[in-house]
Amino acid sequence: MNILAFESSCDETAAAVVRDGRQVLSDAILSQADMHAIYGGVVPEIASRKHVEAIAALADKALADAGLTRPDIDAVAVTYGPGLIGALLVAVNFAKSAALALGKPLIPVHHLRGHIAANYLAFPELEPPFLALCISGGNSMIVDVAGYTDMTILGATRDDAAGECFDKIARVLGLPYPGGKPMEELARGGDPAKYPLPRAKVAGNDLDMSFSGLKTAAVNLVHNAAQKGEELDRSGLAASVAAAISDELVPRAMEAARRTGRTTLVAAGGVAANKTIRTDLERACRENGIKLYLPPLSLCGDNGAMIGSQAYYEYLAGHLGDASLNAYANLEI
Ligand code: KG4
Repeated sequence: MNILAFESSCDETAAAVVRDGRQVLSDAILSQADMHAIYGGVVPEIASRKHVEAIAALADKALADAGLTRPDIDAVAVTYGPGLIGALLVAVNFAKSAALALGKPLIPVHHLRGHIAANYLAFPELEPPFLALCISGGNSMIVDVAGYTDMTILGATRDDAAGECFDKIARVLGLPYPGGKPMEELARGGDPAKYPLPRAKVAGNDLDMSFSGLKTAAVNLVHNAAQKGEELDRSGLAASVAAAISDELVPRAMEAARRTGRTTLVAAGGVAANKTIRTDLERACRENGIKLYLPPLSLCGDNGAMIGSQAYYEYLAGHLGDASLNAYANLEI
């Protein structure tokens, strides 16, 4: 089954063709990151406009790259939330029109389910059940994936997302947006114990996370140093931030595995590209006898292929949309 999938939840416009949930026939992505960089973050109105400009050409490119024509497409899939509402609406409306024009089913896909499914593309043997650590620019959560479309959130951030924390600290350090990768480069060779940053203790559900205290502490460090004219160990700070964020995530993922008895963990989302987090996950999983799947860097960020993968399983479960499909800024997994 060939699924033509669209993604426009943030600042990447993407169209892909995926066969039977596992085989990527094409994966066309146009990132707007450069456009937003001068503003230090995504400007929603610009994102929507750029999606409108790009999406038709990307659909054609996805078909051409796959060596297919329109009649070869069996279904159309689209991210319908969560994300920037104006941005989401672009691909949702385009996909609705495409499904109608082709006379094929429409499959709505949750963005984070897509991030998790990126692992199905990289690891043919991977099947639920497993735990997923979803860490992106807008979300951070630990999800129990009991089946392809059967998911329960075990813990989530109470405030900022892990990626947002990297991005905001990067911004005060004068690094370009999105800040995760530049922070990782700056952290290279830095001492992760240089600056003692807070680790959150969250009341209630101890699998929930919090990144805002850590973000504020790091931002204050930068401002205080500037006010006092003290030299900041920028590398040390970047390394300390990565260590603190990783400490927020990795022990909780291990605790979730202990509680649920799951023996497989997958990482998902843009922040899963982070070297410190990947290394810490590898070590912790080795020590706890957990099989770990880390998606290749190319599949960590937003893309259309991951939506096409999850769409196949949503289709098999009978989760279809129609012309009344809407987009949702917030959406339960
Ligand atoms: O999954 P994604 O592409 O978009 C969302 O769905 O949010 O994630 C983007 C986030 C940004 O916050 C970016 O700074 C972060 O992922 N990111 C990283 C790295 N690469 C991207 N964070 C830490 N280390 C990285 N190497």
